[in-house]
Amino acid sequence: MVYRKVVPLTTRTTPARHLKCPNDPRASARWLSTSSRLKKRFLRLILLLGSVTLIWAQAQDTPTQDSNPKSQYVEESLLAHGFEVYKSSYCGICHTLPAAQTAGIFGPPHAGMGVIAAARVQDPNYTGSATTAEAYLRESILDPEAYAVPGYAASIHPMPAYTTLSDEDLTALVYMLLRQ
Ligand code: HEC
Repeated sequence: MVYRKVVPLTTRTTPARHLKCPNDPRASARWLSTSSRLKKRFLRLILLLGSVTLIWAQAQDTPTQDSNPKSQYVEESLLAHGFEVYKSSYCGICHTLPAAQTAGIFGPPHAGMGVIAAARVQDPNYTGSATTAEAYLRESILDPEAYAVPGYAASIHPMPAYTTLSDEDLTALVYMLLRQ
């Protein structure tokens, strides 16, 4: 009686032993089943690689929100320029804007100015001619008398008209006030 230790196929670790095709028919059957298992594994690997490639290709196609670095750069430099104009025009002597570290009290606060401007043009008591928040800000800077903010009409330091600002400076200033 020959005792042979039967080692289950799955626990075998050395592939060389069952990869070579021996003469023993049982062993060759095992070899065949091993090779078909290998084929299956290979197929699975191909499928996996295929789906990974597909997902990668899709990710490349999907545009991200800030996919245009140029426009992002333009927006950031406009904002920075807006703050510069705000400081060099001394708006902060009369206005409070935490983002620009100013604390003036002779004019209304500028924090959240975009939302305030949008509400001003909807107000039935509004006397100017702007219909959008942006136009309201332009008007407030170029022609402050078009509308007097309630409570500030009799300010001891009325707002001067900033008519000498270049169009570029005015655009940046309004852009900053809308977004800060
Ligand atoms: C000498 C003080 C003074 C300076 C300097 C000044 N403002 Fe004013 N500003 C006022 C006063 C007072 C008001 C409110 C009366 C009015 O609406 O005209 C006002 C109103 C405004 C409003 C309307 C605010 C609202 O709540 O609707 C904006 C916008 C504004 N100023 C922007 C600016 C900008 C930008 C600068 C700098 C380029 C500036 N101001 C400089 C005094 C000033």
